[in-house]
Amino acid sequence: QRSIPRHFSCPGTVAANFGSEEQPLGSAETGSEDKIPKKRFSEVQKERREQAQRTVLIHCPNNINEKKFLKYLSQHGPINKHFFYESFGFYAVVEFCQKDSVNSLQSEAHTPNKSTESAIPFKSRFLNLKLKNLSNQIPEQLSAQTNNQSPPSSKKLFELLNYAESIDDQLYTLLKTFQLTEENVRLRHLTCSLIEDIAAAYFPGCVIRPFGSSVNTFGKLGCDLDMFLDLDEIGKPNVHKVIIISFARCISSTSLHVRNAGNFLMEFQMKNVPSERIATQKILSVIGECLDNFGPGCVGVQKILNARCPLVRFSHQASGFQCDLTTNNSIALKSSELLYIYGSLDARVRALVFSVRCWARAHSLTSSIPGAWITNFSLTMMVIFFLQRRSPPILPTLDSLKSLADAEDRCILDGNNCTFIRDLYKIKPSGNTETLELLLKEFFEYFGNFAFNKNSINIRQGREQNKPDSSPLYIQNPFETSLNISKNVSQSQLQKFVELARDSAWILEQEDKGQPSPSSKQPWGLAALLLPPGAASPSLSKKKKKPMAEKVKGLLAAIKSNSADISKGSRGK
Ligand code: CTP
Ligand code: MG
Repeated sequence: QRSIPRHFSCPGTVAANFGSEEQPLGSAETGSEDKIPKKRFSEVQKERREQAQRTVLIHCPNNINEKKFLKYLSQHGPINKHFFYESFGFYAVVEFCQKDSVNSLQSEAHTPNKSTESAIPFKSRFLNLKLKNLSNQIPEQLSAQTNNQSPPSSKKLFELLNYAESIDDQLYTLLKTFQLTEENVRLRHLTCSLIEDIAAAYFPGCVIRPFGSSVNTFGKLGCDLDMFLDLDEIGKPNVHKVIIISFARCISSTSLHVRNAGNFLMEFQMKNVPSERIATQKILSVIGECLDNFGPGCVGVQKILNARCPLVRFSHQASGFQCDLTTNNSIALKSSELLYIYGSLDARVRALVFSVRCWARAHSLTSSIPGAWITNFSLTMMVIFFLQRRSPPILPTLDSLKSLADAEDRCILDGNNCTFIRDLYKIKPSGNTETLELLLKEFFEYFGNFAFNKNSINIRQGREQNKPDSSPLYIQNPFETSLNISKNVSQSQLQKFVELARDSAWILEQEDKGQPSPSSKQPWGLAALLLPPGAASPSLSKKKKKPMAEKVKGLLAAIKSNSADISKGSRGK
């Protein structure tokens, strides 16, 4: 295939440090992250949002000639970056250097003319490219290369793991293989930006912010896209230009203040509803309707308004993301920022979290269906807690991050103190030099023997505490401290987790004794823990005592039916 430079850089554009190609995640590979500039979470998010606003999503014919395509689009202004991907169709993500280019392109676009159906004239940044004259295209060697948005197949993963040189190397390999790519991160922010355009039809000046694993450094390819509608920006003075909006539509119990002049104070007339929950439900209900009726590419819209945290769930077909849209969720954004900090402090953190998440998914401890299972969020908290418990600690407690905070870091949300230091440079790196192999084994041993019956997990203080209630698994929400983030987990699911943790610690213990070696064809190390179909090491099984061997057999059978999931996009929650 002819090679075309995939990216055209505009001078002066900067990439965010998280997962970007310009500043690759060398840290994750080498274990040293000192040389990587550590941006603040807010800076990264701001930069990504601006990037997304200059970007369009184009459905293309799949034999598109990349060079001609770029030439055609460049008429509207220089292009900073572009890539193609496939997801039930062939798509291009094109980021212009200037926002004006998007307007120029949109002004040239037509409303489709269909004889049987009627199009709702919503002009978004999701476009469709048609060829005027099919015979003009020379598809052969000229068609564009696509960027992969899915995780590797389980076969490929096990191959990669078996070729690694050590268990540490395996953990970093798994991280590199599953972490969100630069393109996937861009696509996530673009999807939020496109949804924002739709929501802005009702609430001009609103912001749709991604949170959760899409932004907290723990996202795996295929994970869902959590986003929330932030209406707080509307009230801020710097968006006063949008105040001409028809605010009578805005349903909220809070009042919006505009400038105080002399003895006068002007407020908007607003519709009031009895509670914030009802306001949230009403807002999400209309946005849900909007997405369902007018949102290009939004399908399967479900309004789940009676949940503790009301949400609208839908599929964004073109990007392939399963989206969960909530509102009023600034605490969840704050917890994403906290995880971002933990994930950026030490390269071992993400490597360990990814392996534990994949391990849990491979053993069906987590599921994409909501239920009594442990979630990825809970597993991440458990890893963070475990790393706070090492000697010396690998991660600081939330209380110590709070004590490092400056006045500008102060943050109180809904009466909860969410203050912590946000400048990564002000946090002293850990002096702990333990290997990932040791940490993984110790993680399984630690939680295989944890007194879940009486203790809770608390990353704020970094030590076990008495459980305040009888939930089988109690992990304190770091900011809403009266909440248990794993309230849903049943005793039997917890028991399954404990047994698997013990078995996995045992398997790693055998590896320590030199069986089998990295050159072996048998799955070893991390691969043995993820257990592909029929890949039990006979040498390991033989050495085991009878009851344990029986257990592993049962486990293998269970895994056999589930391991295909690894290749299916690991929605793994
Ligand atoms: N969250 C929370 N309390 C919970 C569940 C979720 O505060 N009991 C917040 C967390 O900030 C979490 C986010 O909501 O990161 C999104 O939840 P979820 O999608 O379940 O977790 P992710 O961290 O995004 O992980 P996954 O990759 O499984 O989606
Ligand atoms: Mg999520």
